[in-house]
Amino acid sequence: MTKAITIMKREHLSLNTVLHVLNQLVLDLESGRLRSDDVDYELIEKIMHYIEEFLDTMHHPKEDNYLFPALLKKTSEANDVILELQEQHEKGVEHRKRLEVHIQAMKDKHPGQTEKVIDALKDYLAAHRAHMKLEDTVVIPLAERVLTEEDWAPIDAAFNENKDPVFGDIPQNKFRKLLSDITFLAPSPIGLGGGRK
Ligand SMILES: [Fe+2]
Ligand SMILES: [Fe+2]
Repeated sequence: MTKAITIMKREHLSLNTVLHVLNQLVLDLESGRLRSDDVDYELIEKIMHYIEEFLDTMHHPKEDNYLFPALLKKTSEANDVILELQEQHEKGVEHRKRLEVHIQAMKDKHPGQTEKVIDALKDYLAAHRAHMKLEDTVVIPLAERVLTEEDWAPIDAAFNENKDPVFGDIPQNKFRKLLSDITFLAPSPIGLGGGRK
């Protein structure tokens, strides 16, 4: 497995951890186990910040600028899938901003916002899961099949540039810190429940 694929898969795993926390929030809000007043907004803000910094400004650009162009140059086999993924990257930013507006409105106790947050979160989670599934099951296997060592060199360099933020060996890395804060604050069984009194 190339360095880029190892990093890409690890980044997907990290994102899945964070999405899992949001999924638990949906279940708790929907079942009434959690009231909007009791939501741990510090945790949610950290998650949204993580998604913005990690996903929208680092992970997606590496795919858009290195992996996808290399594949498009090499084969037309996955042109439609790659176009779809690129569009999803673009829409994902707007999608996240919309979600943040609803979360802020719920925090400000505007009526009817809990339902809007639940719906927006469900859409957001489904979109991310479908997106990662396409990359994991179509794009990565295709890349492994058609790209040569020479093709991989610049892709590996790009993915490696951030020194593997979550699992890498840079202790002060902000993504690593953010993810560990999220894990600390998230309720069990996902996290340590550090935010709960
Ligand atoms: Fe992607
Ligand atoms: Fe990805």
